[in-house]
Amino acid sequence: MAADPLRWVRRDIRGIVPYQAKVFPQGIKLDANENPFPWPAVFTERLGREAFTDAFNRYPDGAATGLRQALSGYTGREPAEILVSNGSDEAIQLFLLTFGGPGLATVVANPTFVMYAMATRYLGGKVIDVPLLEVEGVFHLDVAGILAAAAREETRLIVICNPNNPTGNCFPEEDILAVVNGTDKPVVVDEAYYEFSGQTLAPRLAELPNLLIMRTFSKAFGLAGLRVGYTLGAPELIREINKVRQPFNVNAFSQGAARLALAEAPAFQAQVRQVLAGRERLWPELHRFAWQVYPTDANFIFLRPRAADLAAGVRLAGAIFQGLLDQGIMVRRLGDALRITIGRPVENERLLAALAVLQETQNGGWSV
Ligand SMILES: Cc1ncc(COP(=O)(O)O)c(C=O)c1O
Repeated sequence: MAADPLRWVRRDIRGIVPYQAKVFPQGIKLDANENPFPWPAVFTERLGREAFTDAFNRYPDGAATGLRQALSGYTGREPAEILVSNGSDEAIQLFLLTFGGPGLATVVANPTFVMYAMATRYLGGKVIDVPLLEVEGVFHLDVAGILAAAAREETRLIVICNPNNPTGNCFPEEDILAVVNGTDKPVVVDEAYYEFSGQTLAPRLAELPNLLIMRTFSKAFGLAGLRVGYTLGAPELIREINKVRQPFNVNAFSQGAARLALAEAPAFQAQVRQVLAGRERLWPELHRFAWQVYPTDANFIFLRPRAADLAAGVRLAGAIFQGLLDQGIMVRRLGDALRITIGRPVENERLLAALAVLQETQNGGWSV
C-alpha cells in the first residue's frame, strides 16, 4: 500500500494558509513595523562586552529570572506578574494552550493582528469576529458586540490590540475597561506598540484580575530578530500559563540582549522620538495623495485609496503596492488598504518621492 501520511494531517490544518513573513534585504522595508534604525552604538558595545559572558554551553534560565527582574523595574509590576516568551507570537499560543482548545472560541475585533485567529485555529478553536466600527474615519471597538460574544458559552479569550494593528489607533481606555470589567473571561490587551503610544493599562493590573497585557521587544526595542516578548498579569494566571511554556523558550543570548536593551532604554527612546518625528512628517504629506489617512498612535500609518467601490479600491491598493515595490519599497497591503511603517528619515523621503512618481504615472488613478 502506498503511504500517504498527508491524510493523517488534521483536516482543519490542511485548510490553513500559512503566515508568510517577507524578507527584503535589498530594499526599503516598511511592511513589518520594526524599528528602522540600527541598534544604538552604546547598546551594541555593551552587548559585545557583556552578553557573551553567559555560558552558552548550558541551557538558559528557563524562568528568565534576570530579565523578569529588569522588566519589573521597567513595567512597575512584580516579577511574579511577568512571563517571558519567544516573541509575543509565542505568548498568544500560550494563552490558547491555557484557555482554548477544539471548539472553544476567541473573540477578536477585525481588522486586527492575524495571529490571534491563526493560533486559535491551530488548536481547532473558532474565531468570533466582532468587526471594528468605522465612524467618521476613526475605528472604534463595538463594546456591546464584544461583550455579547464574550458571554457565549464557547468563548474562552477576548483579544484587543491597542494600538491596533493595522489601523494604528488606540481605543479609549473606558471602552477597553468596559470589556475587561464586563466579563470574567480573560481579556488580552496587546500593547506591542506601547512605547510609541505611551498608553497602557499596566498600572491598573491589580484591580483587573482577568486582564493580560502582552508586549514585545520587537518594535521600539529593535530586537525583532531575537524574539523576546512578555506578558503582564495576575500572579495566579501567570502561574497557570507558565505551565504550558516550553522549559527553555527564550534563548540565553536573547534574554541577555533584552536585559541590556532595558538598561539602555534611553537610547531606544531617542529612536522612538525620531520615529514619531517621522510620523509627524509623513502623516500630513500622505493626504496629498488623496487617500484616507487614519489617525495613528503607533509607528505605522493605515490608509485607504479613495475608490468608487471595494473592487476598485482593491485594484488601486494592489497597483500602489506593486508600484512601490518596483521602486524598491515594500509596504503591507490589506485588501483595499495599505499599512506603511515609519522608516528612517531618508526612507520616508524615498517613500514620498516614489508615491509622487506613481501618482503621475497612474494618470490620476488615486481618486478614482
Ligand atoms: C500587534 C502585534 N502583536 C504581536 C506581534 C508579534 O510580535 P513578536 O515579534 O513579539 O512576536 C506583532 C508583530 O507584528 C504585532 O503587530
